Amino acid sequence: MNAVPQERRVVTAIPGPKSQELQARRLDTVAGGVGSTLPVFTKRAGGGIIEDVDGNRLIDFGSGIAVTSVGASAEAVVRRAAAQLQDFTHTCFMVTPYEGYVEVCEALAELTPGDHAKKSALFNSGAEAVENAVKIARSYTKRQAVVVFDHGYHGRTNLTMGMTAKNMPYKQGFGPFAPEVYRVPVAYGYRWPTGAENCGPEAAAQAIDNITKQIGAENVAAIVIEPVLGEGGFIEPAKGFLPAIVKFANDNGIVFVADEIQAGFCRTGQWFACEDEGIVPDLITTAKGIAGGLPLAAVTGRAEIMDSVHGGGLGGTYGGNPVACAGALGAIETMKELDLNGKAKRIEEVMKARLTAMQEKFPAIGDIRGRGAMIAIELVKDPVTKEPYAEAAAALAKYCHNEGVLVLTCGTYGNVLRFLPPLVIGEDLLNEGLDVIEAALAQI
Ligand SMILES: Cc1ncc(COP(=O)(O)O)c(C=O)c1O
Repeated sequence: MNAVPQERRVVTAIPGPKSQELQARRLDTVAGGVGSTLPVFTKRAGGGIIEDVDGNRLIDFGSGIAVTSVGASAEAVVRRAAAQLQDFTHTCFMVTPYEGYVEVCEALAELTPGDHAKKSALFNSGAEAVENAVKIARSYTKRQAVVVFDHGYHGRTNLTMGMTAKNMPYKQGFGPFAPEVYRVPVAYGYRWPTGAENCGPEAAAQAIDNITKQIGAENVAAIVIEPVLGEGGFIEPAKGFLPAIVKFANDNGIVFVADEIQAGFCRTGQWFACEDEGIVPDLITTAKGIAGGLPLAAVTGRAEIMDSVHGGGLGGTYGGNPVACAGALGAIETMKELDLNGKAKRIEEVMKARLTAMQEKFPAIGDIRGRGAMIAIELVKDPVTKEPYAEAAAALAKYCHNEGVLVLTCGTYGNVLRFLPPLVIGEDLLNEGLDVIEAALAQI
């Protein structure tokens, strides 16, 4: 095992000379449309640290976009995936099956909310899981319409681009998008015109009114929502919103799909973020944190819904690849053994206390939100007008990167700085990363 020293170290400019050389090669051959937040090339990573080819060690507040919750070289993930690699790399589950796939589906049935009979199908990416959840819901309901929400993000395939709210960079120039996708308001408390206290019920009423008047509830196959909206800005729908939407779905024979691809698997301090308000989704999509960095995704849900699809209607060559399944079993083992829900809650405690103290000094922090190790600050030019301050988010990220702390931005207005540390990060590194963020705020 490569035990990466758990210390921040900046020994060259960021990016350093070796990274710059690789970046020059990359620019010659890698398509320009594929971006990188920070072009330092990784040599090894683990715990809370990414080490680059120049020997810099960055504190990781990104986890490869909420993927490496157990760290980027977790012992159980590496051990199980390596053992599986020795045995076989692939047979295709649709040709000759293997136990790891079944074990992952058993774990999903155990861990996801609700004690009803559940089944799962495995895929490669989050977008593929969302596409399949829509396929399954349409097959079950014999309806077509799909309802999604303002600020939602669901992926980059044609259907999931259509389901995603933000135009740049995800959709611009890539249309036409799949039909029968309808967008309704979400309960974004910080920006709700009548205030955060009223937001949950008011936003739910608006969303339901739009659905009934503009689509017709009887035409809706699925309502798909992230229980904490990720790319849209770490928006936690105001309390009461999700339960009202779930009730409406249940009352009208609509399949309620929780997209837990970013928020799931201990990220928010619960196995799944929808548990916060006791939501039991009909279907749940997972990916990212599920397999410790190996590509795996799933749709899990009520057995009668999952089984409504004809034999052979779901699948794909690589879906539920055996090495990825082994990785998932290692990641889940780690989450249980190290109590990563507890760790995520502790990260929230530390981060929110520090960020709240910073907000008193720096009025650019308009809002602090999120749960567990999915925390963000929304930056504004003025706390009263709440005018988005995207330039500040970009400047803060740049400062942090130069100082050896990897942070990501997000949000429909590009003005949210988000923190997604691996759940195994040490508290000293967490605090050191926050020190750098504080110094960055003092600069802008
Ligand atoms: C909530 C959510 N859904 C879907 C996706 C798409 O996942 P993938 O990039 O694995 O296709 C993402 C990725 O960021 C996501 O955050």
